[in-house]
Amino acid sequence: MGLIFATAPAIRPESSLKYDPVKNIEDLRKAYHLGALEHEDLTLDPMDMFRRWWHEAIGAEIEEANAMTLATANSQGQPFARIVLLKGLHQEGFEFFTNYDSDKSKEMAENPQVALLFFWKEMERQVRIEGKVEKVSKERSEQYFQSRPRGSQIGAWTSPQSQVIPDRSVLEANAKQVEEKYADIDPLPVPEHWGGYIVRPHTIEFWQGRANRLHDRFRYGLQPDGHWAINRLEGWRRRAARPASREQDY
Ligand SMILES: Cc1cc2nc3c(=O)[nH]c(=O)nc-3n(C[C@H](O)[C@H](O)[C@H](O)COP(=O)(O)O)c2cc1C
Repeated sequence: MGLIFATAPAIRPESSLKYDPVKNIEDLRKAYHLGALEHEDLTLDPMDMFRRWWHEAIGAEIEEANAMTLATANSQGQPFARIVLLKGLHQEGFEFFTNYDSDKSKEMAENPQVALLFFWKEMERQVRIEGKVEKVSKERSEQYFQSRPRGSQIGAWTSPQSQVIPDRSVLEANAKQVEEKYADIDPLPVPEHWGGYIVRPHTIEFWQGRANRLHDRFRYGLQPDGHWAINRLEGWRRRAARPASREQDY
C-alpha cells in the first residue's frame, strides 16, 4: 500500500513536472522579507524572547509550531537528529516526552548535551537552542501522561520505540493486548519506560530571514555569573566564497 494522507497534499505524477526536480535543486531559493530583528527588540532573558516568538507563532496559526528537531550525540560523538514535540515551556527550559528505552534516551544518558531547533518557515524564523538535558519528575510525567488521549496512552505502552520489528502487525497486536489488559482502567498508569525531559539552555539563537541573505541573528550565551550575554552574528555564510555570478543567490 502507498502513502495514506488524511488531507491529501497535491502530489503530481513525476512526468507532469515541467523540470527535473533533482537537477533543479540548486535553483530552489526564496527571498525573505517578512520581518527584521533589532537589538532593541530583544528581551534580557532569552526565555522571555522565546515566549514572545512562541505567542507570535501560535497567533499566526503555524501548524505544529511545537515540532522541534532534537539533536543528540552518543559517547563516540556521533550525532543523531529527529523531531519531537515541545510539551512544556518553563523559565528553566524546554520540555518534551518520549520513551526512556529509546535510542535518543540512551544517547542522552551517555551525553546530556543536546540541541533543539525550531523552524517556523511561515515567519521566516529559526530558533537554535543548546543545553543540557535531564529527566523531569515522575509526578510531572504522570500528570502529562494522564492528560493525553487514551489512544496515545495505549501507544506509549505499546511501542517498543527504536527497536526493529518484523512488521506493523506486531504494533497492532501489542496495542490490542494493552487495550484488553486495561479495559476497565481509565486513565492508564504511566509506564516505567516513558516520561519527560527538560532541556536547560546555555545558548539560544534567534534568526530572522532578511533580503539578500543578510539575515538577523542574535545569540544569547549564559555567563558564569548567571546573566545572558547577547551577540549579533553574521547572517549566513561568507558571500565572497561564492562565485561572483552567484552572489545574489546565496
Ligand atoms: C511531527 C513529529 C512529532 C514527533 N513527536 C515525538 C515526540 O514528542 N516524542 C517522541 O518520542 N517521538 C516523537 N516523534 C518520533 C521521533 O521523531 C522518532 O521517530 C522517535 O522518537 C524515535 O527516535 P529515536 O529512535 O532516535 O529514539 C515525532 C515525529 C514527528 C515527525
